[in-house]
Amino acid sequence: MRWASPAQFRGLLCAHLAILNKNRRPLRRFGTVMSLHGKVAASHSTDFQPSRPADGGSILEAAVRVLTAQSATEKATLTHQTADMWRDRRLQCSILPDSTPEVPDRPGRDDCVRLVDPRKMKSPGKGNTLQSRQRLVHSLVHIESWAVDLSWDIIARFGADPSYQLPQEFFDDFVRVAEDECRHHEMLRERLEEMGSFYGAFPAHDALWDSAAATAHSLPARLAIEHCTHEARGLDVMPSTVAKFRVNGDEMTAKLLEDVIYKEEITHCAAGVRWLKHLHSLAHESQELASSASPTQDPITDPGTASASEAGVPWMEEARQFPKVELWFHALVKKYFKGSLKPPFNTVGRAQAGFGEEWYMPIAAASGSSAAASDGAGPSQQRPGLTNPAPVPASRCLIGAGL
Ligand SMILES: [Fe+2]
Ligand SMILES: [Fe+2]
Repeated sequence: MRWASPAQFRGLLCAHLAILNKNRRPLRRFGTVMSLHGKVAASHSTDFQPSRPADGGSILEAAVRVLTAQSATEKATLTHQTADMWRDRRLQCSILPDSTPEVPDRPGRDDCVRLVDPRKMKSPGKGNTLQSRQRLVHSLVHIESWAVDLSWDIIARFGADPSYQLPQEFFDDFVRVAEDECRHHEMLRERLEEMGSFYGAFPAHDALWDSAAATAHSLPARLAIEHCTHEARGLDVMPSTVAKFRVNGDEMTAKLLEDVIYKEEITHCAAGVRWLKHLHSLAHESQELASSASPTQDPITDPGTASASEAGVPWMEEARQFPKVELWFHALVKKYFKGSLKPPFNTVGRAQAGFGEEWYMPIAAASGSSAAASDGAGPSQQRPGLTNPAPVPASRCLIGAGL
């Protein structure tokens, strides 16, 4: 008798789970997918039922529960439950007394997927064979699973920091993004199975988490890199990705990407822009309040002035160096993003997200190999040679697919 290798065993297990998943209850809120597929799509989240967050609990603690869940199935169940409870206002956007949730350095992950070095990832190709299209969808399934974790991580990691003064709308936005990403993962996973494959059939890499780890200390850095750079890059490549399926006769996948996922990704990029603007305004408005306060006013006891703590908050001091939020964004990209922003850009999709050319053209690569520094420089004043003290790897698949 010959024993299966660990990789073979993992593949057999994933294939077995894929077969089991054929008998699942219908997905909620999947009207578009139902019409796209001409049948009821099915959920990946019924075989496992983790305990739901408690009524009246904290959205931050609920976010940590998703992050620490080990499988995509468990994360999906918790994501839908938590989003439902948030919409019903059965969770609160503060931490509860005596319970500071510990955000994991790295989320729990599905061990169905064999991980490889990003540099050793085989290109999925142009979509002109079934396996190439399966590889393309598989990489998207994996990226969307990371996008779920990233959405909860931004809530759990930064939601309780008083210096950001995050209102309920911030949590509304990223709970919605988390649920969108979860549906994207489930829809693409369903599509992958319809194509005769399954999640775990191909290797994947986790480079996307590297950019999250490099921005784990700073909400503005996280917003700039994940939501205003990677999400925007996803908009850039979506038309060519759709074309790979359409020209090769896979209209089903093309429509799923074009009619559902692309439109929602625009709103994710918009959320990044919205909250980076919020932080920039907050830093400048608190400075103006402080400078206009009477010398006799106490910044701690008088709520009309900037607090003593705001005066020494590093991210605020950094933001105040830039009169425009776009210039702050350029500096954040220069500091935390390795590589360059390469054209062609999807100017229409980016504009729909509120991400006009002034945000990215000054730091766009003049060629395919260099980027222009931008602090205070306009598009006509591009300078080559970005230096990057804390780089985030810009892997091929990460950049090529967005979130
Ligand atoms: Fe997505
Ligand atoms: Fe997204």
